[in-house]
Amino acid sequence: MALSIGSKKKTAVFISGNGSNLRSLIKFSKLKKSPISINLIISDNLMAKGLIYANIFKIDKKIFKFKNRKLDENKLISELKKNKIELICLAGFMKILSKTFIENFKGIILNIHPSLLPKYKGLNTHDRVLKKKDKYSGCTVHFVSSKLDSGKIILQKRVKISKKETPKTLAKKILKEEHKLYPKAILKTFNL
Ligand code: GRF
Repeated sequence: MALSIGSKKKTAVFISGNGSNLRSLIKFSKLKKSPISINLIISDNLMAKGLIYANIFKIDKKIFKFKNRKLDENKLISELKKNKIELICLAGFMKILSKTFIENFKGIILNIHPSLLPKYKGLNTHDRVLKKKDKYSGCTVHFVSSKLDSGKIILQKRVKISKKETPKTLAKKILKEEHKLYPKAILKTFNL
């Protein structure tokens, strides 16, 4: 499947936590210039705070706990196909998707990661960046491939690390940039 321009693309956003990126994507989707509509919210966590946006914006939500990954992934694939989902945005989704899942949605899964990939793949990025005394960090939107945080990079935003930076302040600073970067990366993906 390849991305193409046309009517708004049916999009599913996958979350596990606060869902601030989900919120910014929903806001973006409502703009005339946006090539996407958010039709489905998926979470592996029933308690994810971000699920509140499903109620606020009246978007369908589905929970898959991934206790039996294969079974849940198969159900999830069916759900996405049933809803004719054309784009998947991972936004703080903490489960690793299988190769089979990724192959079912080849080239249409995006992820946002809070570091300047390929540096600092995986978890606890801000701690690691500060321990290394890097001068800059940032965020990256990339296509999802079967290797963790390794798919083709779409866009990145660099953020300067201040002298008194803590993992918490850095996370906050980067998250603010993430909210702008994800919509920009989606526009770029559709050549807009
Ligand atoms: C973001 O920093 C994202 O880059 C990472 O998880 C965080 C999710 O934040 N993958 P939120 O749930 O969108 O507020």
